[in-house]
Amino acid sequence: MIDDLNPFIYSHPLAAEDVIDRDDETHELLKKAVGGHYVRLYAPRKYGKTSLLLKALQEGATEEGLVPIHVDLYRAVSLADVAVRFERAYSQQLKGAIRGKIDSFLKTTGVGLSLGAFGISARLQLDSKADPLPALHTLLALPLELEKHGGYRAFIVLDEFQDIDKIPGLDGLIRSHIQYHGSVASYVFAGSEPGLMKQLFESRDRPLYGSAVPMRLGRLADRDIAAYVIERFRETGRDVGDALNPLLESADGHPKQAMLLAHLVWEEVSQGETATFADWETAHEAALDELHAEFEAQWRGLDTSQQKTLRALVDGGGSPYRTDVLRRLSLTKDMVRKALPRLLAAAEIELHERKYVIVDPLFAEWIGAPSRPRAGG
Ligand SMILES: Nc1ncnc2c1ncn2[C@@H]1O[C@H](COP(=O)(O)OP(=O)(O)OP(=O)(O)O)[C@@H](O)[C@H]1O
Ligand SMILES: [Mg+2]
Repeated sequence: MIDDLNPFIYSHPLAAEDVIDRDDETHELLKKAVGGHYVRLYAPRKYGKTSLLLKALQEGATEEGLVPIHVDLYRAVSLADVAVRFERAYSQQLKGAIRGKIDSFLKTTGVGLSLGAFGISARLQLDSKADPLPALHTLLALPLELEKHGGYRAFIVLDEFQDIDKIPGLDGLIRSHIQYHGSVASYVFAGSEPGLMKQLFESRDRPLYGSAVPMRLGRLADRDIAAYVIERFRETGRDVGDALNPLLESADGHPKQAMLLAHLVWEEVSQGETATFADWETAHEAALDELHAEFEAQWRGLDTSQQKTLRALVDGGGSPYRTDVLRRLSLTKDMVRKALPRLLAAAEIELHERKYVIVDPLFAEWIGAPSRPRAGG
């Protein structure tokens, strides 16, 4: 049996006990939930939104008696998709005495919903013309039902919420329900695309305008990552040694890249051994190899002026307007000015202490590495 397992996970959301720090954010989310406020949580991809949300939901259930429901809207493209995601979320997560009551209630509505195996997803599969709207209305109104059947307050997380922007009218539909839920449910809308989240919540003509308090998830502090990495190495009979400092520097507080690098350093070290700088170098190279295809796709998804602006940022050490750099890349200030807001909206870059930084430090390294393909050279 394999019992010497790598303790650094980077491919999926973490269990609550594995989450570094984020105690303040968890507390803040719970405080808002208990107080009946709605929150929109924003962070770039892989900053640990889902991990934090799962932790908050778990604590909300055990400490505050909330009914936790996590709905993943990733790439939902239709009302039918959304109905299925909501139904499956309730089906997998609703526990205890309330579950039976809600299941019976759903069956009496006659719109095809069930917490068992044969619910709306099955019906929609059998009959592609079936209208998902009545089912969706019922699901969106479920918090009222939870309240009726035992005074439960629901804590509902809508993860990857920006993806609903592609479904016409859905934000209005959601608003029409949640505006009456203040006393029975709390909502968190989480998303990773600042541009889309802004459109949904900050445009006056959109239904959800101003309906949720903004909360932003930042990078992790080096000392928190350090403590975690040292401890996990120790627990598995290893010492992170000289690999720690370059790891912290390279990860630059990016939660997932920190875990990826720690994972790969750990792979280089046998039980009872201490990592060396050479181990770090091997792990670092392995990380860039592993990410190469992903970065290439990310790079190809950008237009030339965005690519060059990223280059200018890397080559200019964070300032995108350095004359010599611009000349070398045949880039004008005007092109940079136009590219920056688009890069910000897509969370490729962010403002950090009044400077633009590339969100993913390893992507920045990849862009700056002379042997890799890039614009203008
Ligand atoms: N607080 C944290 N402590 C330790 N690792 C973390 C933390 N937050 C994120 N990570 C790392 O990042 C990875 C991705 O986390 P998670 O899926 O929660 O992020 P996300 O922001 O929801 O990502 P996505 O944009 O893909 O939805 C985790 O597998 C873990 O390696
Ligand atoms: Mg997520």
